[in-house]
Amino acid sequence: MPTSSFQPVLDRIAADIAASPGRGRPADYIPALASADTRRFGMAVAELDGTVYGVGDWQHPFSTQSITKVFTLALVLSLDGDNLWEHVGREPSGNPFNSLVQLEYENGIPRNPFINAGALVVTDRLQTRTGDAAGALRSFLRAESGNPRLTFDEAVAASESAHGDRNAALAHFMASYGNITNPVPGLLGQYFRQCSVEASCADLALAAGFLARHGIRADGSSLLTRSQAKQVNAVMLTCGTYDAAGDFAHRVGLPGKSGVGGGIIAVVPGRCTLCVWSPGLDERGNSVAGVAALDRFTTLTGLSVF
Ligand code: DON
Repeated sequence: MPTSSFQPVLDRIAADIAASPGRGRPADYIPALASADTRRFGMAVAELDGTVYGVGDWQHPFSTQSITKVFTLALVLSLDGDNLWEHVGREPSGNPFNSLVQLEYENGIPRNPFINAGALVVTDRLQTRTGDAAGALRSFLRAESGNPRLTFDEAVAASESAHGDRNAALAHFMASYGNITNPVPGLLGQYFRQCSVEASCADLALAAGFLARHGIRADGSSLLTRSQAKQVNAVMLTCGTYDAAGDFAHRVGLPGKSGVGGGIIAVVPGRCTLCVWSPGLDERGNSVAGVAALDRFTTLTGLSVF
């Protein structure tokens, strides 16, 4: 299928997967997300020059949740370089995103930056570097998306904070190994704000553009080296959808990162970035309709890394 414009392919995907929105369940362990309408569906594709195509609810803001972990990782790599990899691994965990079991065996070093434990380490380092990790993330997302209204949903952050015992346990446990250095309560506040960012498919497809441009930001400046951009994409491919990463790679064949708000971003290096949203999740926390739509995209266009 020609890809001079992505609009026809997006329209076709929306028709092809029309039975999928409504399937799955919203994340209910964060009460503020439990009432999300699983029938909603949106998808956007951003080309390297910032041209965006979309279908369905592609301009509707949703809770980005773990998708933000890609951006905090990139910010820490840009500020701190390879030091990060002494504090967090880059292997798939094979466990759920909020699992505690590997941490003790592995001396408080999380398997990868996308499980919650690893993301807490990344946010801790961003907090040390910037003094306001969530604020640094928001500034970056605003600049890359061109959306100055993009911000946190404080109600979602408060809701997660009130039910955040598992993330608190992870953070305190890692602090006992010296792998978290900021006071845990403040760090958790930063992390919950980070996860509460509201953004649309269009915003996120644009904001992830640096990953398709080999590290180059929307204004032409460099965030990451080409090699670092490759590394972030590789960790997305192997770890971005947690214990479903193998299945996601098999079906979609692109680096991708999901969030329990129902969003998924994906990257075609050198070509475009995608974001899809539909709040119904499968049992591993990935959007049912989102994975189906990305699967259709790579099947119809042949645009995959394989
Ligand atoms: O920390 C949490 O559990 C949530 N704020 C984010 C988890 C998430 O999005 C996992 N993604 N599929």
